[in-house]
Amino acid sequence: MDQPRAPPTHPLLRHATRGDAAQIRGLAVDNAMFPPEDLTGFDEMLDGYFDGSLTGHEWVVAEDAAGAVAGAAYYAPEPFADRVWNLYFLAVRPDSHRAGIGHALVAHVEQALRTAGNGVARVLIVETSSTHPYQPARHLYAREGFIQEAVVREFYGPDDNKVIFWKQLVE
Ligand SMILES: CC(C)(COP(=O)(O)OP(=O)(O)OC[C@H]1O[C@@H](n2cnc3c(N)ncnc32)[C@H](O)[C@@H]1OP(=O)(O)O)[C@@H](O)C(=O)NCCC(=O)NCCS
Repeated sequence: MDQPRAPPTHPLLRHATRGDAAQIRGLAVDNAMFPPEDLTGFDEMLDGYFDGSLTGHEWVVAEDAAGAVAGAAYYAPEPFADRVWNLYFLAVRPDSHRAGIGHALVAHVEQALRTAGNGVARVLIVETSSTHPYQPARHLYAREGFIQEAVVREFYGPDDNKVIFWKQLVE
């Protein structure tokens, strides 16, 4: 018989502020999401958000009970697309995995876009890797009702495909 699951946490979700930048960066580093040389692009994404040049983009963080950043999500509209949004970044601090924070962040993004309405958001996509370390992410997106829409072979490297998940926001 399955063990009873821990009750989901209900982290405090809020818009990210400039003071969260180092902890958000820490999520990418601690989860080994990018090689160190690729963090420059990540830093530019964060800087562009906090200096206001990436208007319409959104960073959301999940706080743990101590007020530290335990997870974050970043989403923005896709250029050259019709009301399609991309969840460009999602990560949870390794010591807080499997506590419902990833789910809470994805549900929050989805709800925010649904609330914005059909005139703003029709579809949410998220792109991830086909490799083993990203299996939890692929499970999460499937569990959240995303459809695995496409695979771009060898996108991130040899034996590392891009997997694109798709979800319609307005029925
Ligand atoms: C993917 C990630 C954000 C999930 O966050 P999380 O807070 O641990 O996820 P949750 O506790 O909300 O779990 C929600 C669902 O995700 C899936 N999941 C999460 N961890 C999993 C694991 N280790 N193995 C399999 N499925 C997993 C499950 O479907 C789970 O639902 P369930 O508990 O009903 O089975 C987290 O593992 C992470 O930060 N990974 C590293 C960075 C990353 O891969 N980001 C996504 C890049 S696109």
